[in-house]
Amino acid sequence: MRLIRPLSTLAVGATLCLALAACSSSGSGGGGGEGGANFPDDTIDVIVPFAAGGPTDTVTRILAEPLGEELGVQVVVDNVEGAGGTVGAGEASTADPDGYTLLLHHIGMSTAPALYPDLNFDPVEDFEPIGLVTEVPMAILSRSGLGPADLDELVSYIEDNQGSVTLAHAGVGSASHLCGTLLQDALGVELTEVPYDGTGPAMADLLGGQVDLLCDQTTNSASQILAGSVEAYAVTVPERVAVLPEIPTTAEAGLPDVEVSIWHGLYAPAGTPEEVVTILNEALITALGNEEVGTQFEELGTSPVTAEQASPATLATQLDDQIALWGGLLGQEG
Ligand code: MLT
Repeated sequence: MRLIRPLSTLAVGATLCLALAACSSSGSGGGGGEGGANFPDDTIDVIVPFAAGGPTDTVTRILAEPLGEELGVQVVVDNVEGAGGTVGAGEASTADPDGYTLLLHHIGMSTAPALYPDLNFDPVEDFEPIGLVTEVPMAILSRSGLGPADLDELVSYIEDNQGSVTLAHAGVGSASHLCGTLLQDALGVELTEVPYDGTGPAMADLLGGQVDLLCDQTTNSASQILAGSVEAYAVTVPERVAVLPEIPTTAEAGLPDVEVSIWHGLYAPAGTPEEVVTILNEALITALGNEEVGTQFEELGTSPVTAEQASPATLATQLDDQIALWGGLLGQEG
């Protein structure tokens, strides 16, 4: 089941067995200076809908400084976690549409409509896309000392210890939840899921031995893998990750259906003036072209998208395509 392909090609996969969750997200947005002729003339808040220290937070903090330099104002990261990213996205959707409150979110923006029946925002109607940011591979990880030496042995371990093996993730609809679900679906097993407000805290518990498995983005796991602090069994993309050359792909390791990569986009609330969106998009493209940003992303197993991929139209198309894809796959579970 090949579910999510790189930005260039999207393919519809087979059915997913995902738990649906009722969720209501609430929040009220803040405002900043006047979104218009003098924009920006005040601090810009970027809401990250997961806990500090995780991959979404990491990507945003790498971009914040060059983005602020380009815009001439401070860009502050505001972690608003909960419910697989839907609390933070909900808060961003009700912020003043003046360009001073933005949202940096990932694939979870496109899965939420199918997974959260009471979702209190519409990813398309309630936001203006500013641009795509990056697409990140994931890695199937276990706590150090679990025992399996490779993915085959991990599969046997899971099958032999059904029900007692724990899987951490960042809430229903998060990237780690989706990857964990793909793994369970491919193996036909059920793991004991342990939700967190982000894979920052989830990784802390994996390192502490409190949970057994975590499927996490390389932006949060590459350094731990290279340090030997966790066991890595496979990466969930068609090609090996340059900074993790020893880790096989899931296809090489015999699980071709466990394939997913995590795209990230930057959004403003619907109603943000077009000239403000243009200013933000141009600053995003410049920040993505920043050499230091490129180097940091490469060290974390990913890379900034190209200037053309960073357009508002490309993000809008990606979001539409992904909402249709997940609606079709998850809607069948409805
Ligand atoms: C996810 O699993 O969706 C992300 O890793 C959450 C996060 O950025 O912490």
